[in-house]
Amino acid sequence: MAHVFILAGSCLLLLLVIPHLLLCQGNICPSCDPDVFGVPLKFLRKTFSRVSRLSHDMHNLSTIMFNEFISTVEKHSQSKPDYINATYDCHTNSVHAPEEREKVQQMNNEDLTKWILMLQYLWRDALYDRAHDSWFKKHLSDTILSSARKNFKKLFKLQTILEIHFLLGIHIVDPVRLKLTKNRIYWSGYRSLVSSNGDMHHSAFYNLFKCLSRDSCKVDMYSKILACRISGEC
Ligand SMILES: *[C@@H]1O[C@H](CO)[C@@H](O)[C@H](O)[C@H]1NC(C)=O
Ligand SMILES: *[C@@H]1O[C@H](CO)[C@@H](O)[C@H](O)[C@H]1NC(C)=O
Repeated sequence: MAHVFILAGSCLLLLLVIPHLLLCQGNICPSCDPDVFGVPLKFLRKTFSRVSRLSHDMHNLSTIMFNEFISTVEKHSQSKPDYINATYDCHTNSVHAPEEREKVQQMNNEDLTKWILMLQYLWRDALYDRAHDSWFKKHLSDTILSSARKNFKKLFKLQTILEIHFLLGIHIVDPVRLKLTKNRIYWSGYRSLVSSNGDMHHSAFYNLFKCLSRDSCKVDMYSKILACRISGEC
């Protein structure tokens, strides 16, 4: 049995055929047993299939935002701006959310869930501003704005599902919140985005969309791996 993942955006054209055994067998990941959550399996399946759908949609929306931004930039400038190829810096870098699939597959369900939740918390404010601030309404295209709004709604839903779920189960929410507060990790890019310096402003947007697209790809991967383990259908 095999499962085919087609991930868009930063995982563009990455087509992986993952054998069932590799992804789901216990000896690869020591605590991938769905029972570790101590919650009825039927409930877990439903939860993680919703989480997986939401994170898939969020990755799709983030990719749309990024592509739309790039195509707008390309329309309005003759040469490719420098920032397009520069290394980009994300506010989420300091938490070191794992990116390599092999590494992620070694992680247990609880840690994967923590990563999903942490990235939701870290993106919530950034997305909320984009979607609701009047300054952005003037400066961003309708496609980007409507995608940002949808993305924010889905993020909020995903976060709520996990929070409600884990209020009942083991404590995942508090340690995640505590870690972010203690280390003062949050999004602080607002000033650069609204800068009157055109280069700074564009490169801040590029950074934002690139980071969002990268992180939503990670969350999508974590969710798919979790959903696969818990449903046993991969
Ligand atoms: C996003 O989803 C829509 C509808 O399913 C699809 O048509 C589109 O190609 C997707 N876009 C990306 C960038 O994945
Ligand atoms: C810049 O990015 C393009 C793809 O967008 C790539 O083909 C090219 O090799 C990159 N250039 C450098 C110097 O990294």
